[in-house]
Amino acid sequence: MKNLSQKIIIANWKMNLDYKSSIALARGLFKAFDKKFITNKIVVLPDFLSLAEICKDFRSKNISYGAQDISPFSLGAYTGEISLESLKYLGCKYVLLGHSERREYFSDEKSIALKVENVIKNSDIIPIICVGENWSQKRAGKTWSIVEAQLKEAFSKIKNLRGKTIIIAYEPVWAIGSGKVVSTTDVSIVHGKIKEFISKRFKGFLPEELGIVYGGSVGLDSYQDFSENNDVSGLLVGGASLKISDFSKIINNF
Ligand code: PGA
Repeated sequence: MKNLSQKIIIANWKMNLDYKSSIALARGLFKAFDKKFITNKIVVLPDFLSLAEICKDFRSKNISYGAQDISPFSLGAYTGEISLESLKYLGCKYVLLGHSERREYFSDEKSIALKVENVIKNSDIIPIICVGENWSQKRAGKTWSIVEAQLKEAFSKIKNLRGKTIIIAYEPVWAIGSGKVVSTTDVSIVHGKIKEFISKRFKGFLPEELGIVYGGSVGLDSYQDFSENNDVSGLLVGGASLKISDFSKIINNF
């Protein structure tokens, strides 16, 4: 099981931008980075509608795109859902699964295992599986038991990861959008345990590549703390990915 071949910086735009602003931001990024030599991989995750437009421009080796979620089901009578088939058609390389906002507001806790199964068994799209504890769980010293339980649940329908690339995003819920960032020591501890979990759980059936990224209030004053940390394969960036100038600095210097 190798680490990702390139460090990865993932922009989670959430539902912060409307269609027009998403397209404008995407075009700006494309202009800034398409032809430039950069060592890091950039991934943007716009909302579904913008994604369908943005993917026409983003045939670039520097910049990949993906979705913020996926239906747990295959094509069928599921009103309002977006299928894996559509993501494949659009050329998505990545999909975010189990983000804490989806767990909190859309009960994703219940569907995470089916979503992970759908993506892993039916596509080569790389899942970015989010895990992380909330503040009271952290204070109670339960960080690892929460993260471990989330990992167990997410992979509960998967036996074999051979040939796959998997990304786990450790995003403490209390750090998301709060301006509070976890200490690099704590990040190293959790990332190390995540790696150990995958190694044990999939012994003999390990993924080809495992990336473990950190997310939660990554910004101009904190991203460099993680760039020298070998336990961190990359970053999942929310707020700071919405401004080209800030996001460019992170991409260029991580
Ligand atoms: P943030 O969001 O960088 O704005 O904290 C990160 C995320 O939720 O993925």
